[in-house]
Amino acid sequence: MTRDWLQSALEAAGIQSARLLPLWRFMWIVSIVVFVLVVAAALWAVARHRRDAAPPPSERGMTRAILGATALTIATLFAFLVLDFSTGRAITRVPHNPLVIRLTGHQWWWEVEYDDSIPQRHLRTANEIHVPVGRPVLFQLESGDVIHSFWVPSLAGKKDQIPGKENSVWFQADTAGIYRGQCAEFCGYQHAKMALLVIAVPPDSFSKWYDSQLQPAAPPADSIAARGQSVFVSSACVMCHTIEGTQAGSNVGPPLTHIASRRTIAAGTLENTRGNLAGWIVDPQRIKPGANMPPNGLSSADLNALLTYLEGLR
Ligand code: CUA
Repeated sequence: MTRDWLQSALEAAGIQSARLLPLWRFMWIVSIVVFVLVVAAALWAVARHRRDAAPPPSERGMTRAILGATALTIATLFAFLVLDFSTGRAITRVPHNPLVIRLTGHQWWWEVEYDDSIPQRHLRTANEIHVPVGRPVLFQLESGDVIHSFWVPSLAGKKDQIPGKENSVWFQADTAGIYRGQCAEFCGYQHAKMALLVIAVPPDSFSKWYDSQLQPAAPPADSIAARGQSVFVSSACVMCHTIEGTQAGSNVGPPLTHIASRRTIAAGTLENTRGNLAGWIVDPQRIKPGANMPPNGLSSADLNALLTYLEGLR
């Protein structure tokens, strides 16, 4: 069974989130019980006060009630503490031989780098994190500007990405699927449009994906795509983006070597279709005001050629 675009802490798809879920349920149930008891006690007190005949409570009875309520509160908070502590310990212990990914938050996109002892196998991509099912993945979390927070609710809890400080979090996806994540710390105007996808696939599919992503960009398939490539390398695009195998090699914005293989553009904001890509290239500020990408006034022939070229970058 696969899960698609799942984004819910109540539907656990990994061992981390599966451990957090009972803690959440316990806190939720206790909160409901406490709420019901407090409301019932308040109503009872009001009703009792209204009855003129009711005798005032004895001092001994009052003391007993106060001590009882205090003891119950301390016991409840202590139970929270123990459960919280043991859950925290269980999910922070990093398992043996994880896949290591450096994840850097930017306003407003995610830079994803797969570490490998062989430098040629170092992989840099954006906004879409592929992971093998059943293997722990350790994230080294960094920020390129302000504080962000990495959160894929179906797989793990939140962890902040703080400039100048490296945090880490790990998870393991136990079910193949596409899990949607979201920046969970207000990081500026387009915080809400800072999403990502975790795509969990069987290990052999992951290896295939990895090898294909290491390849340089596909050369233009025809003369229109060739024109698109020359538009790309001779316009503002080249100032910020990388396309391996061309002169475009800037690391300011998301790498586009395999842009056509990704499901979304603009960090989960839009589906990756030709029309959306055209709208994004022409006027990103309309879709994501404040984003660092400027508008691009291309002629329609140049824009079409550029789109054809980008669509070929599988
Ligand atoms: Cu990044 Cu909110």
